[in-house]
Amino acid sequence: MAFAKAQPAVIAQNGRAPGPRGVSFVWRLIRAPNGWLDFLSECQRQYGNVVSFRFLGVPACLINDPAGIERVLVTDHQNFTKSMDYRALSRVLGQGLLTSEGEFWKRQRRLVQPAFFRDRILSYGGLMTSYTARLMETWQDGEVRDVHRDMMRVTLKIAARSLFNVEIDGEAGTIGKALTVVMDEMPKLAGFAFLPDWVPVPGLGAFRRALADLDKIVYGIIRARRATGEHPGDLLDMLLDARDESGAGMSDLQLRDEVMTLLLAGHETTANTLAWTLYLLAQNPEQQSRLATEVRTVLDGRPAEASGLQRLPYTQMALMEAQRLYPPAWAIGRKALRDFEVSGYRICAGTNIVISQWVLHRDPLLYPNPERFEPERWREETAGRRSLPKFAYLPFGAGPRVCVGASLALTESALVLATLMQRFRFLLASDEPVQAFPSVTLRPKHGLRLRVERLR
Ligand code: HEM
Repeated sequence: MAFAKAQPAVIAQNGRAPGPRGVSFVWRLIRAPNGWLDFLSECQRQYGNVVSFRFLGVPACLINDPAGIERVLVTDHQNFTKSMDYRALSRVLGQGLLTSEGEFWKRQRRLVQPAFFRDRILSYGGLMTSYTARLMETWQDGEVRDVHRDMMRVTLKIAARSLFNVEIDGEAGTIGKALTVVMDEMPKLAGFAFLPDWVPVPGLGAFRRALADLDKIVYGIIRARRATGEHPGDLLDMLLDARDESGAGMSDLQLRDEVMTLLLAGHETTANTLAWTLYLLAQNPEQQSRLATEVRTVLDGRPAEASGLQRLPYTQMALMEAQRLYPPAWAIGRKALRDFEVSGYRICAGTNIVISQWVLHRDPLLYPNPERFEPERWREETAGRRSLPKFAYLPFGAGPRVCVGASLALTESALVLATLMQRFRFLLASDEPVQAFPSVTLRPKHGLRLRVERLR
């Protein structure tokens, strides 16, 4: 099947991409129940795959065409830097791998990359399944639980232990609370990112306090390692041993930024993937029972192993499908350094480019019945999967800035999900749909409550 290109419903004038104009646009954004998610989807439906608009005076352009996305993220990536939203993010992550640029970023990426090589990831498998098993020991048959909170706790413990060799227990609650404050306030901060840092923004007090809590824990991890003088050969070791050309090691601030980035980026997104997957399985009992049957038949009561995941294809397809419908990174932002052209439209230097996985992954021209949860659509041999354009599915981004933790995240999600499905069934606790909140990541707005039933 060949995919038709979405035609702009409104033809642009002077090569400028069509899009909403004037104050009515801000109105539409404010009124949309799911904010940016609804607004961007509506823009694409109404104006096509390249949509220009201004947000608080800043020129922006949504690109939803896979070929245009490839140009921005891969072929012409030198023509773009990270967009202004990352400035808000750097209030939390400083100059860590996600937010830094240029030569500094390149050096840090080279340094961090070996921690994510296949052998390392395989070696983390045992602790992923044992932390999940320990979490389920506290669950009561038939109770209603906030599974988003549960997944946040377990993925945080896994990230802290696998990357930095630390046990996080009491701190997990503090980190969870602080992160919720940070995530709640972040969209506001991103909206005011064009203002200098000294301008007061409402909610900043709570944000600063939450950040201080996170800092205390991260500096604690660094100090504790320095004090022991041990060298377990983990990621923290690599960061502590790194030297620049002059032979200088990283300052405490640089270390803090990298540890904070990897700890937060490394658990929040994976927790969201797992929570949304459980929600979709609870909504689709037939698919859930297929997954449970696969896990039961293949594992036969044994713990899942990282090296044996290819024997759990349905589990992996369910995760891929959940990341299509609820991409934890729901948008990627870039800023154009020079003018460029996409799909016949001229985009000026200085424009903020928005690539939204939420919009892309629900495009009916790419995915038939886009709202339906159909893990089978990811079977290798299906025609739909084979003819899908390369840049039509982007949970982890693409190009040089592609997620460094993608393989770790995929292994971890599959192991945690398989372990959960060995012991429990997940049921909807209410008919109310769970609302998605587009902060830095796509989180459930008020948690995600499901009934858990022990399998006999
Ligand atoms: C399901 C889980 C995950 C998703 C959906 C996800 C998504 C993404 C995306 C879309 C990007 C690219 C952002 C951009 O281009 O601007 C990214 C970058 C990044 N991710 Fe992930 N991520 C996940 C898990 C992880 C894990 C487990 C880690 C580390 C332990 C991690 C660390 C990072 C870092 C450090 C970057 C910046 C890479 C760079 O610019 O060099 N992520 N992630």
